[in-house]
Amino acid sequence: MKNTLFLAVLLAAVSSIFIISCDRDPVYYGDIFGEPQDTTGNPLDTTTLTHPCDPDTVYFEQDLLPILRSNCALSGCHDVLSHREGVIYTTYQYTRTTGKISTTNPTNSKMYRSLIDTDPEDRMPPAPHQALTQAQILMILRWMQQGALDLHCDAACDTTNFKFGTAIMPIVNTYCKGCHSGSQPSGNIALTNYTQVKASVDNGKFWGSIQHLYGFVAMPYPAGSAKMPDCEITQIEKWINNGAPND
Ligand code: HEC
Repeated sequence: MKNTLFLAVLLAAVSSIFIISCDRDPVYYGDIFGEPQDTTGNPLDTTTLTHPCDPDTVYFEQDLLPILRSNCALSGCHDVLSHREGVIYTTYQYTRTTGKISTTNPTNSKMYRSLIDTDPEDRMPPAPHQALTQAQILMILRWMQQGALDLHCDAACDTTNFKFGTAIMPIVNTYCKGCHSGSQPSGNIALTNYTQVKASVDNGKFWGSIQHLYGFVAMPYPAGSAKMPDCEITQIEKWINNGAPND
C-alpha cells in the first residue's frame, strides 16, 4: 500500500513535468527513464520562422561584413593582429566598438570621412588599393543611419539568377575585389572585370579556391575564413557549368 502510494505520487510528479514543459514538443510515449527520442526529426520547428530581407535595410553580416573583411580587415591594416589606429573590422562587435562609426552624426564619422577622402594616401583603403564603390560607401553610411545594428534576415537565395552581370560580378565585388584589385592585387590576380574573372575560372583556380579544394589556396582569405554562403557558390557553379558566359 505504501509502495503503491509512493508510485502514484512519483508518476504524478513525472507526468506534471511533461505537461508543464512539453506543451510545444511532440508527445513522447517511450521509456520515461531512457533518453527521449525525437520522433519528428524537427523538434524545434524553426523552418517556418522566416525573416525576409527588406531591400532598404542593411544587414551587417550579409551585406557589410564581407566588404569590410576583403577591403579593411587585411593583414597589416585592420585585422585583430594589426589593429592600425586601434581599429578592427573583422566582426560586428569590433566594428561597433573600434570602427570610428557614429549613429548620431554618420556623415561626420571618421569611418565615413576616410572612405570619401579624395587624397588616395589618406583615403581608406589607401592606394594601391582601390576606393570602395559609391554603392558600398552609401551602404556603410545607411547602416550607421539605421543605428549600426546587427540585423539578420533570411536571404531569398535566388539561385536561378547566375548571370555574370547581375549575380557573379556583384559577388566578386563583395567578397574578392578588395584584395584582387588595384596596382598590386593579391597573388598577382586581379578580379575586376569579366576577362580577369574568366581567366581565373579557366585555369581552375577560381573554383578550387572558393570550394577550398585540396591544392588550392582557400578563398576568401585569410586562411581559416569561412567559405562564401552556399547560395553564392551555387550561383557561381551554375554560371561555370553554363560555360561562364559574359551575360
Ligand atoms: C583578404 C584578401 C583576399 C580576399 C578577400 C580574397 N583573396 Fe584571393 N588571394 C589573396 C592572396 C593573398 C592570395 C595569394 C595567396 C598565396 O599565394 O598564398 C590569393 C590567391 C587567390 C587565388 C589563387 C589561388 C591558388 O590556389 O593559386 C585565387 C584564384 C583567388 N585568390 C581568388 C579569390 C576569390 C574568388 C575571392 C573571393 C571569393 C578571393 N580570392 C578573396 C587574398 C584575398
